[in-house]
Amino acid sequence: MTGVASGFPLTRQPLALGRHLALKNRVYFAPMGIDLGRDGCLTPAMFDFYKGIVDGGCAMVVLANSAVDASTRLHEGGLCLYEPTHAEHLAPLIDYGRHNACPVVVQLQHYGNQGHLGRSGGVLLTPSRSTPARSVKGMKVMTHEDARRVCAQFAHAARLAQQAGARMVQLQASNGYLLSSFLSPYSNRRTDRYGGTPLRRARLLLEVMDAIVDATQGGVDISVRLGIDDCLGEQGQQPALLEQVVPALERAGAAALMCSAAIKQTFHYMLRADPRVHAMLVHGVRHIRQLTSLPVGFAGFTGSLAQAEALLELGVTDLVGMSRALFADNDLVNKSLQGRPGSVNACRFEGNCFRDKSNPQLDRVYCCVNDRYKRPASIRYD
Ligand SMILES: Cc1cc2nc3c(=O)[nH]c(=O)nc-3n(C[C@H](O)[C@H](O)[C@H](O)COP(=O)(O)O)c2cc1C
Ligand code: SF4
Repeated sequence: MTGVASGFPLTRQPLALGRHLALKNRVYFAPMGIDLGRDGCLTPAMFDFYKGIVDGGCAMVVLANSAVDASTRLHEGGLCLYEPTHAEHLAPLIDYGRHNACPVVVQLQHYGNQGHLGRSGGVLLTPSRSTPARSVKGMKVMTHEDARRVCAQFAHAARLAQQAGARMVQLQASNGYLLSSFLSPYSNRRTDRYGGTPLRRARLLLEVMDAIVDATQGGVDISVRLGIDDCLGEQGQQPALLEQVVPALERAGAAALMCSAAIKQTFHYMLRADPRVHAMLVHGVRHIRQLTSLPVGFAGFTGSLAQAEALLELGVTDLVGMSRALFADNDLVNKSLQGRPGSVNACRFEGNCFRDKSNPQLDRVYCCVNDRYKRPASIRYD
């Protein structure tokens, strides 16, 4: 295998990311909420989980969603970042990452119309009453005043991340959540300044970025998790629709673009390793990379360092994200770089950790192959 024979030379290359981060290699832990938080705060169990990932040799950890306000929640065990106590609980982990050559990036999230109605105070913000959202109870079409409030919430959360020691935040603008629902023609049918063209659909995201830059005075870089394909064909977001948006994000000061695909209606595309979905993602990421000089990353079905090396060799991406593969074996990167790829506990990409998220019998996420997070035997998926 190319990567093993050459010792993964491209994967080992360091990368300066934005103004503040120096990455030791090209593999990062893409955000994966396993719902071990309590009252929106990081718990000792969650610290241990992330410590395992940091110690395993990847170059950067992107924490899973932190909700930017009490009015937007999804899972009970998810993180929040709108009160000082949330930041205080994050600080030791960010510190641990900094001292162990693995910076921790804080992902900021507004769940929009994909939030949990009961946990979001009975109101779910949405760009418009479009087909996918019509049936959602409690849905509220965002006003310009709501947009200003959302910008202030993201800015406040970024400021708290900065106080916790983070030097980079990631905006969750993919997978159908609020910022991505504005970007997509599927969910955004507005005719005001927030809709109608790709650039106008990007206005909310750009305003959020401006608000963060103002609030943090350059102390925190912004990476954008960009939804590049809703997997809905011409009805939804597609890479070609982002041709003006990507340069606009670069002008607005983004430090990196991390690509992702699918929304709630099409999450099933990401469950199992399917070569067609992988090819779609790779094709889309290549397209985005041609539109920008920013570092571009993506996560999706990369299960080994040999595969990561091949993606770098083919020029698909600058950074390779892995969620499930590092969940299945926290030490995948170290084992592979030390010449022991055969000892990696490989992810099966059967999607059961995704299924845990919506299983009413469970309040957290487990793994089929990692003994540290082994799913109870009573839980079975067909
Ligand atoms: C259990 C689980 C939780 C996830 N949580 C998040 C999250 O909090 N934020 C996010 O942007 N993506 C989240 N994702 C998506 C991953 O970041 C990633 O895009 C996806 O799993 C595909 O990458 P992989 O094949 O390397 O796992 C989650 C995925 C899984 C399986
Ligand atoms: S539950 Fe399955 S798909 Fe998820 S990380 Fe574990 S082996 Fe991989």
